[in-house]
Amino acid sequence: MALLNILHYPDPRLRNQAEPITDINDDIRQLADDMLETMYDAPGIGLAAIQVNVKKRLIVIDVSEDKSDPLILINPEVINAEGEREFEEGCLSVPEAYEAVTRADKIKVRAVNFDGENYEFDADGLLATCIQHEIDHLDGKLFVDYLSNLKRQRIRKKMEKHQKQKL
Ligand code: NI
Repeated sequence: MALLNILHYPDPRLRNQAEPITDINDDIRQLADDMLETMYDAPGIGLAAIQVNVKKRLIVIDVSEDKSDPLILINPEVINAEGEREFEEGCLSVPEAYEAVTRADKIKVRAVNFDGENYEFDADGLLATCIQHEIDHLDGKLFVDYLSNLKRQRIRKKMEKHQKQKL
């Protein structure tokens, strides 16, 4: 297991598009394990491969209170969405910024398991919000894209200042 480096906004690599995973091998298992370790360490409730500069459609999530329910999603897609839910979102790639984003409240998700078989499940509430946020990452999209230009510019300036201070 290894901790991975998380890219920070406005790093242009966060705009990369992830490719579907066609070969579910030990490298993918290792990547998923490392992503979970990185997410728990951060700490966060979701992480997409794009955020660790890997262009594969893989996300990890754990929305449980005691961090006991890891979820690994390979090639996830939302195939049905209903209702609306507003939630104050944050992101491991946009540290210390939290803004309200409206997404679907109930979703049906299709993904692939480690045996390469498709499966579907329903999600709502925080889990639904988190899955939609992470799938956005796989398409090069960030939660700040849903905000006004003014708010996004303010966050961008804050991030750039923060990154300069770390040098
Ligand atoms: Ni995020």
